[in-house]
Amino acid sequence: MAIPDLIGSSERFQAVLDDVRVVAGVGCSVLLQGETGTGKEVIAHAIHDSSSRQTGPFVGLNCAAIPAALLESELFGHEKGAFTGAIAQTIGRFQAAHGGTLFLDEIGDLPLELQPKLLRVLQDQQYERLGSTRTLRADVRVIAATNQDLSRMVEQKTFRADLYYRLSVFPISLPPLRKRKEDIPSLVHYFNRRFSRQMGKSIDQVPDGVMDILKAHHWPGNIRELQNFIERSVIVTQGPVLSPRITELNLLMQAVVSAPPQTLSDAERAHILGILKETNWTVGGPDGAAARLGVPRTTLIGRMQKLGISSRPSGLRLASSRNASQLLAS
Ligand SMILES: Nc1ncnc2c1ncn2[C@@H]1O[C@H](COP(=O)(O)OP(=O)(O)OP(=O)(O)O)[C@@H](O)[C@H]1O
Ligand SMILES: [Mg+2]
Repeated sequence: MAIPDLIGSSERFQAVLDDVRVVAGVGCSVLLQGETGTGKEVIAHAIHDSSSRQTGPFVGLNCAAIPAALLESELFGHEKGAFTGAIAQTIGRFQAAHGGTLFLDEIGDLPLELQPKLLRVLQDQQYERLGSTRTLRADVRVIAATNQDLSRMVEQKTFRADLYYRLSVFPISLPPLRKRKEDIPSLVHYFNRRFSRQMGKSIDQVPDGVMDILKAHHWPGNIRELQNFIERSVIVTQGPVLSPRITELNLLMQAVVSAPPQTLSDAERAHILGILKETNWTVGGPDGAAARLGVPRTTLIGRMQKLGISSRPSGLRLASSRNASQLLAS
């Protein structure tokens, strides 16, 4: 997988990058924890690429994607005849990653019975292939990742405590996108540039009204969800203004309005966005949002500015348009 540039100037994301720099310089295991789509795999690559192992291999294994019965052989390899169907000697991921980094994704799905074997390699750098008594040495840095709560799994005895402590010598928690919303505009521009270039388009404007909705959304699928949204938007855009489909924008707005608010200003922002949606973004006048909210127009505009809602994403009134560009760029 190609390593994209890492985007994010928020304090939380910069703290992650500081950890990456620190841990890259030492050889210890790393545990990356974070919701789906927060960037665990790209951060694993970044650690490898900035470490002294950068010229060695980067080998990945998704513990959830391999049937439990085959995982041991995938990790450690096997000798010819070690089990039915073992027709030739096969090296495992530890051997393939020798001198480099082994990325064990979805580590929470590693079967309990295999956990002591992984612990042994981490502690003594020693293992055997299935069907062999010869001990091999592993010169491998392990980076494990999970979106599960491993400490809770330890309490519930579905993950071994000794392995957990060994893996989490250096834990890094990747913040969900909704906890670093200030990074959304730069991510939007970055993905827009990337996909526009790929598709031979020259889209260089993102309407404020679109950006407001993207900033307000909670992004349960995190950066991957945002990336997919921008890719779809670039596909349907004609001309220089990024124009997501209005139906998709409406779905996001609905999610914003119905998601459990996090702070008082989130609640206020969601409520105002909900009313603006109902009034087709009309602020003033007898049917406008200000009247609905029972406040003077200038008061509402002031609140909107404070909450980072643009007062002029005009055009959302043209509800019959198929495409948001006509709505938001007008
Ligand atoms: N800081 C970032 N800047 C730019 N792109 C990013 C960043 N972080 C993640 N991405 C992109 O977001 C997508 C999801 O990242 P990644 O696959 O690393 O997430 P993950 O945490 O491993 O997700 P999952 O738990 O679902 O496997 C990828 O396409 C990646 O390139
Ligand atoms: Mg991943």
